[in-house]
Amino acid sequence: MQIEEAIQTRRAVKAYDASFQLSRDEKDELLQLALLAPSAFNLQHVRFVEVSDPELRAQIREVGWNQAQMTDASMLVVVCAQVDSWEKNVRRVWEGAPNEVQDYMAGAIDNYYRGKPQVQRDEAMRSCALMAQTLMLAARGKGLDSCPMDGFDFDAVAKLINLPDNHVIAMMVAVGKRAAEPKPRIGKLPFEEVIIRDRF
Ligand SMILES: Cc1cc2nc3c(=O)[nH]c(=O)nc-3n(C[C@H](O)[C@H](O)[C@H](O)COP(=O)(O)O)c2cc1C
Repeated sequence: MQIEEAIQTRRAVKAYDASFQLSRDEKDELLQLALLAPSAFNLQHVRFVEVSDPELRAQIREVGWNQAQMTDASMLVVVCAQVDSWEKNVRRVWEGAPNEVQDYMAGAIDNYYRGKPQVQRDEAMRSCALMAQTLMLAARGKGLDSCPMDGFDFDAVAKLINLPDNHVIAMMVAVGKRAAEPKPRIGKLPFEEVIIRDRF
């Protein structure tokens, strides 16, 4: 499928064929593609928790507004991020670059994040959003469907997946085969309202 068609036909699909299963390799291929999304300073904040345990899926659904996607889609991913990547992983993610580049990046990153908890969190969320969207488009490119979700109790899900203190959850993404056609797109705001030329 061409990228344009994948973008046009991606919908937030709610009803999944629960009998359809992706293999571990197929899931991993999608996750590998998603990980090619950009991340701020190449920090790769994102951690994907791929939930395959049916019991855990059911528990997540209980704290997730009883959304059927959470149990019925073939793949459920909790998109998380390590908020202190800026402090912990700089040398690792710039390994291979010339030493002067590594030193420059280490300084720039420290300057950008240190003492700025909101920036640290915002950056993690931005990177999560791009990876989530890349996952959804990768899925669509293979004829699959997806749904991004933030309709759940974040604290309860954090407990269920043993989220470490230095991580946050951005959203979940369900991926699978649609069981019903999504309703036609509605309520799109006018192009002229949402596209601003040069300045507000
Ligand atoms: C951050 C975010 C959270 C969302 N949470 C949910 C959710 O919990 N459940 C759901 O069914 N759809 C959820 N959606 C999907 C939106 O409702 C959907 O993308 C929007 O209505 C537009 O429909 P479309 O994606 O099919 O074009 C979410 C979307 C985003 C971006």
